[in-house]
Amino acid sequence: MTQPTGIGRLNHVAIAVPDLAAATAIYRDTLGARVSDPVDMPEHGVTTVFVELPNTKIELLHPFGEGSPIAGFLERNPSGGMHHVCYEVDDIHAARDRLVAAGARVLGDGEPRIGAHDKPVLFLHPKDFCGTLVEIEQA
Ligand code: CO
Repeated sequence: MTQPTGIGRLNHVAIAVPDLAAATAIYRDTLGARVSDPVDMPEHGVTTVFVELPNTKIELLHPFGEGSPIAGFLERNPSGGMHHVCYEVDDIHAARDRLVAAGARVLGDGEPRIGAHDKPVLFLHPKDFCGTLVEIEQA
């Protein structure tokens, strides 16, 4: 049982990759997963390939355009790496208030933004969550 304002399902794991075609081939051909065509998301500064798994998704992220939010990550991790995990919540404002009350830091101005799936999201500081950038999404 989760608390009403706690996290629910794992929505996706995002992996930043330096070569989107190579990463897509690894997931499609080596791992045998179903993958989407690349989707440019200029407003998020990424091109994404969605890997559909039976119980969740993997999102392969590659920088799109100048000043991509994942450019620095790829500089520090030139062969790519896990960028964030995304958990679903029922009510993003209630979840945020609970997290902030618990001492967690919300990135940006603390207000939910519309994420890559057209749903409100927030990002939480990795130093507060075991070294992992956490996205919460109102599913
Ligand atoms: Co995400």
